[in-house]
Amino acid sequence: MSRRKVAILGSTGSVGTQALNVLRRHCDAFQIVGLACGSNADRLVAQAVEFDVPLIALGDPNARPTAPLPDGIRLVTGPEGLCDIAAGSAEVVLVATIGEAGLLPTAAAIREGKAVGLASKELLVMTGSLLTEMATRHGSLILPIDSEHSAIWQCLQGEGHRRIARLLLTASGGPFLDTPLEELARAGRREALNHPNWDMGPKVTVDSATLMNKGLEVIEAHWLFGVSYDQIDVAVHQQSVVHSMVEFTDGAVKAQLGRPSMDLPIAYALAYPERLVDPELGGGPLDLADLNQLTFRPPDTERFPLLDLAYRAGRRGGSEPAVLCGADLAAVELFLAGRIGFLDIARVVGEALATTGHTKEISLDEAQAWHQAGFEAAMNVGAALAS
Ligand SMILES: NC(=O)c1ccc[n+]([C@@H]2O[C@H](COP(=O)([O-])OP(=O)(O)OC[C@H]3O[C@@H](n4cnc5c(N)ncnc54)[C@H](OP(=O)(O)O)[C@@H]3O)[C@@H](O)[C@H]2O)c1
Repeated sequence: MSRRKVAILGSTGSVGTQALNVLRRHCDAFQIVGLACGSNADRLVAQAVEFDVPLIALGDPNARPTAPLPDGIRLVTGPEGLCDIAAGSAEVVLVATIGEAGLLPTAAAIREGKAVGLASKELLVMTGSLLTEMATRHGSLILPIDSEHSAIWQCLQGEGHRRIARLLLTASGGPFLDTPLEELARAGRREALNHPNWDMGPKVTVDSATLMNKGLEVIEAHWLFGVSYDQIDVAVHQQSVVHSMVEFTDGAVKAQLGRPSMDLPIAYALAYPERLVDPELGGGPLDLADLNQLTFRPPDTERFPLLDLAYRAGRRGGSEPAVLCGADLAAVELFLAGRIGFLDIARVVGEALATTGHTKEISLDEAQAWHQAGFEAAMNVGAALAS
């Protein structure tokens, strides 16, 4: 049987390395034909050597490996380099970059009719209508990799879209689930990065702490599953065992459960429509007797206002979700650099949204421009706050 050809954009990051861990266990089923990252050149080359990958790309056009490239590996650079990999020989392109870096490569893969395993939620948030419409036109499948969306996707197998009453996205609540507002004002980088259940990259970890991550996932779910915002609810579920749920029109609720590990969503997307035979994946089967209790409660939107802001941006649509993404990226960068406080993140994003214009229809290029406008507006608001 021929091996399924896979490319990974963002292979040096948290999702990327977890995908490589899954692929390392299943070299007989998959062949990696391309890897890409931003600037971490030496790590990328080491991955290419380990997995015998012929083509690698660095998003940063100025980045270079410190040693000469080993024979048999070709290096391309810049956004075009990522597009070359995305549109190349891979059957499945796994996109796990941050911000809007994966946008044009994802569009390139979709235009070639490839399956796209999408971890980078920002891309559907910014341009959900364009990417889903393109995917339909080119016969490309967008396979969710975010654990919540993978859970919903798994619950929907064998179900028609018309049977969906409501999607219930679960949220761990992050490190500040019960932290009072006064203490949140003093929370710093170390506390925000100390996620109780998930080990992820810094941007998404801070987004989990502010609940912006869940807001972005609400917009992502809207585009992936074609449901209205009124049909998407968020439930805080501290244990991160129920990865999300679907309520159907007859009142039945299906959930997908598992350990808090990205291995299973990654493997499910890579092997779809099959499932890998690997009981040890993601730390092994769930021991139900060990679970003790599963709790659910509504999110506190007073302490975590970014969730409502994201719903509002999603409903307004057009350029607003792209501005939201850019503004949040800047605000999180400022917070991680110690220039603004934790509660300032929401303030900066809110002001950036209020001061950046809005337009109803956007192209892929315009989405990038609106993302940049949101980023710059937030940097300006943040600089004023910091001074
Ligand atoms: N981590 C998780 O468990 C998780 C779960 C669900 C969804 N997600 C989503 O998955 C995406 C990736 O998250 P992550 O936590 O894996 O992030 P991360 O650890 O920060 O990794 C980001 C990756 O993107 C690469 N990159 C950055 N800029 C690039 C550019 N201009 N061109 C090409 N590659 C670039 C980085 O390369 P360098 O190493 O060279 O910087 C790195 O490989 C995010 O959208 C996140 O929301 C993550």
